[in-house]
Amino acid sequence: MALLNVLQYPDKRLRLKAANVLVVDANIQKIVDDMFETMYAENGVGLAATQANIQQRIVVIDISEDKKSPLCVINPEIIACEGTQYEVEGCISFPGMFDKVERAEKVRLRALDRDGKSYEIDAEGLLSVCIQHEVDHLDGILFMDHLSRLKQDRMAKKIEKERARAME
Ligand code: NI
Repeated sequence: MALLNVLQYPDKRLRLKAANVLVVDANIQKIVDDMFETMYAENGVGLAATQANIQQRIVVIDISEDKKSPLCVINPEIIACEGTQYEVEGCISFPGMFDKVERAEKVRLRALDRDGKSYEIDAEGLLSVCIQHEVDHLDGILFMDHLSRLKQDRMAKKIEKERARAME
């Protein structure tokens, strides 16, 4: 396995739209394994392939405390949504940035697992948020896009300032 380089905002490649995986083969499984390793190393609860500059519809998620409940999500489709929730989110591509985002409370997800087998799950709470956040990534949508224009500008400025400081 290998750690992948995670793109940081404002990298424009975070805006690319990922393509469906045609066949879940050894190549794809290697990407999935590397994505899990990278997500765990970054202490994240989810990672989308787009963040690793791979434009394929692959997401990995693990919201468990002990990090032993990996969920492999290939070609995700959110086939039902219900209610709304408003919780704090962060993102590996936005280190140190957190804000509240409005999301559906519950979602029904259809996807392929690491063996290419189709499954459906009902998710709520953090898992539901995580699924929506990561599926957004595959379409080039970032969590900051859900914030007010004022908050987006504030976040972008803060990131710019920190990047400038890091380069001094
Ligand atoms: Ni993210």
